[in-house]
Amino acid sequence: MIRAGEPVAVPTETVYGLAADATDSHAVAAIYSAKGRPSFNPLIVHVSDREMAERLAIFSPVASLLADRFWPGPLTLVLPARADSGLSPLVMAGLPTVALRLPAHPAMRALIRESGRPLAAPSANRSGAISPTRAEHVLSSLNGKIRMILDEGPTSEGVESTIAAPEEDNIRLLRPGSVTADMLTESTGLPVIVGTEGAKIEAPGQLESHYAPSKPVRLNALRAERDEYLIGFGLMPCHINLSQEADIGEAAANLFAALHIADASAQDRIAVAPIPMDGIGVAINDRLKRAAA
Ligand code: TXA
Ligand code: MG
Repeated sequence: MIRAGEPVAVPTETVYGLAADATDSHAVAAIYSAKGRPSFNPLIVHVSDREMAERLAIFSPVASLLADRFWPGPLTLVLPARADSGLSPLVMAGLPTVALRLPAHPAMRALIRESGRPLAAPSANRSGAISPTRAEHVLSSLNGKIRMILDEGPTSEGVESTIAAPEEDNIRLLRPGSVTADMLTESTGLPVIVGTEGAKIEAPGQLESHYAPSKPVRLNALRAERDEYLIGFGLMPCHINLSQEADIGEAAANLFAALHIADASAQDRIAVAPIPMDGIGVAINDRLKRAAA
């Protein structure tokens, strides 16, 4: 199906993606249309190895350091695209840069290798909706729009990859994830500039409302009001708990599934307990803020 230019939903270690041949404009257009995604929002291109990545983009010494340290894994690097990359211009939505990621998930890497193509893959959900961490989430969001989901069970990380743009003397963090700002600084010695401040590009995953359930979301809630479904953290009375042991990694892995369940519950509103800003907690709070916007 990939070689025939059709999108297929696939697992990665972060969330399920809707993948298609990044060199085929028809295939890429089919991703945008299945998701209902605005075409100004560029896609992440997934590769199976460094060689494939270096045929698509120019790696500065800092970019190479980051790839050495964090690939395969949940880090996306925004790099200058090569003129002869062969990528569909739709993937980059007209930008001179391409977002590249070498995922750790064995099924996804095998698919890229076997198809011999870089795969464009945004999260496999309707544009703006909650990201999918299970095949069932993909099915409920894109039913009728796609023909195949490669079901490999729940994803391990649970929030989307960190997106970073290495620049001359700093690293711009476009989306927080499990590779934290501290980890980026530690491995390069460069300061991290957070957010889109001074950015040439607004990363639309940075749109204010995104990852959004259909119901209103209240943050930092310590108890549920009568019409609320409370998503808890640590030992507390709640409808569902992200991690009773207050383990932040476990909470990240459970986050989107809990939002899906809360959205389908009998209650009219969703409330979420305070989540500490440690490690991947920054990414959890980033997604929750957009879910509530
Ligand atoms: O974990 C992930 O990254 C998942 C899995 C499937 O790999 N993918 C994912 O894709 O989250 P998506 O399309 O939902 O988010 C991609 C983000 C968007 O916010 C997009 O604006 C940004 O990456 N992006 C893509 N290319 C970019 C570029 N050249 N410059 C800046 N931002 C870019
Ligand atoms: Mg998304």
